[in-house]
Amino acid sequence: MCGIVGYIGNKEAYPILIKGLHRLEYRGYDSAGVALVNAEGNINVYKTKGKVDDLESFTKDKDISGTVGIAHTRWATHGEPNDVNAHPHYSQSKSLAIIHNGIIENYAIIKKDLIKRGFEFQSDTDTEVLVQLIEYIKTTNKVDLQRAVQLALTQVIGAYAIAVVEKGNTNQIVAARKASPLVIGVGDGEFFLASDATPIVEYTKKVIYLNDQEVAVITRNEEIHIKTISDVETTPVVKEIEMSLNELERGGFPHFMLKEIYEQPRRIAEAMRGRINVDRNRVSLAGIIDNKEKFINAKRIIIVACGTSWHAGLIGEYLIEEFCRIPVEVEYASEFRYRNPIIHKDDIVIAISQSGETADTLAAIELAKKSGAFVYGICNVVGSSIPRNTDSGTYTHVGPEIGVASTKAFTAQVTVLALMTLTIARLKKTIEDDLYKRLIHELAEIPEKMEKTLATNAKIKQIAPIFTYAKNFIYLGRGYNYPVALEGALKLKEISYIHAEGYPAAEMKHGPIALIDAEMPVVFIAPHKGIYEKTLSNIQEVKARKGRVFSIITQGDREVRKLSDFCISIPETEECFVPLLASIPLQLLAYHIAIAKECNVDQPRNLAKSVTVE
Ligand code: M6R
Repeated sequence: MCGIVGYIGNKEAYPILIKGLHRLEYRGYDSAGVALVNAEGNINVYKTKGKVDDLESFTKDKDISGTVGIAHTRWATHGEPNDVNAHPHYSQSKSLAIIHNGIIENYAIIKKDLIKRGFEFQSDTDTEVLVQLIEYIKTTNKVDLQRAVQLALTQVIGAYAIAVVEKGNTNQIVAARKASPLVIGVGDGEFFLASDATPIVEYTKKVIYLNDQEVAVITRNEEIHIKTISDVETTPVVKEIEMSLNELERGGFPHFMLKEIYEQPRRIAEAMRGRINVDRNRVSLAGIIDNKEKFINAKRIIIVACGTSWHAGLIGEYLIEEFCRIPVEVEYASEFRYRNPIIHKDDIVIAISQSGETADTLAAIELAKKSGAFVYGICNVVGSSIPRNTDSGTYTHVGPEIGVASTKAFTAQVTVLALMTLTIARLKKTIEDDLYKRLIHELAEIPEKMEKTLATNAKIKQIAPIFTYAKNFIYLGRGYNYPVALEGALKLKEISYIHAEGYPAAEMKHGPIALIDAEMPVVFIAPHKGIYEKTLSNIQEVKARKGRVFSIITQGDREVRKLSDFCISIPETEECFVPLLASIPLQLLAYHIAIAKECNVDQPRNLAKSVTVE
């Protein structure tokens, strides 16, 4: 998604802004730009289609001086990705420049009105409409920039995080947000601005998260002043961020995705630390214990999420229903928010999100809260919008995930769902003591088993190039491994651009079997657990049609191995924890196929890391 960086201080802004844009590249974008206010107070805007490197080449012979500036990476929504539609956008008189994340939904009506008043537009963007509106209000009402921004935003429907600089004003940036994140970094005599904390963390740990409908005036050598768009003054709250610069670097790996796959054993152990006791016989999650009556009495749990987080939610459904005996529904947040769902006061809504900024998930939370349900968040990014808008929750605590394809965040979400399940099951007394202890013990062993699973990397790397010919893949699994099949297929399509579909294995006969021939790779998640025999029959059906079988099996399994063209073994574990291990070879398979196809695995085309627009 689009990225914002801003700087005001005593250093040259340009290098800081460019570095910040590079840090935000993981979010996905198609053009980049910068606006600098030089010592004479002139605004210089430079922007170009393509990468931040292209912007740097473009500015080589330009005036890039100035200690105030704003910069942007754009992920096209209104208007194609080109130089003109890239941000920043000037206002008509070029006295203002703006960068914007989000979507102004009523831009067409505002634009029509401004055209009637003599405004001309260079781009197809909703953002240019907003900056023209601010200029129009500023000149007709004779107000300062902050007031003009406030008044303009009262006319706007949609989502925004914006930063505006003004000609002749070498001391100020005005910023505002609604439903799109914006963070101000407070340094020593300098301020930073960003759409997430990654570009800020190397300069300062002190941040202010702007709230919806707040407008901040960031002035050199002064305190930050914040007012709402309806002109009510609010007090900025300075918080400490936990992220370190080290966590943002690749640490010797060729890609963030591979680094994050390899981090899983350590990160999952961290996600469990302090939540499973040292004797490995007790789980306790503060968010559940503090609200135990709600969980004990819940008639239903509704899980809302998108993409990979939704797949984690499906595993949550299997876990919670099996061990806590509470009915669970798993909903795409984007469908839930618009389909007038029935939500009761004694329902618990669990929102799962790595980024904590996904627009549809946030809207689903709002809807659930309005209906009086208790809303619980499972989130990775500390201080992001979802944890701030839920009643309680649990952080996954796996550190920043930079690769667009979610890996460690997924296994961490499943881990938290397992911890929640065990905590609730114990409270509700729906689990036998022996089983409870056995599961905790096994969960605590998972990081070590993940380490062993990672040893399959070399074999997967060797096999992967064989599949670069494929145009389609089918992923099949049963029970807990059905969501793993969905997740494996999503990983492959995201980064290798090979079409892939996941199905519950038994569904194959109801349609997808028609696709199977000697060209079709079929990935089976077939651990020696549960309804193993049934999966075995499904594999035989695929082999009978000459499909190429790649299977994930339990160490020591002979039968599936015999039937498979390619086999990857994972350590034995409890059935409900197989997803934590089985998803690792699938992440590696997608990664190595994408690498063999020379795809950009960390920034796949058209994708954004956090989807802050609907
Ligand atoms: O940040 P969230 O977990 O809310 O994001 C949800 C999806 O956009 C995300 O999982 C997406 O599907 C990933 N690219 C998957 O790898």
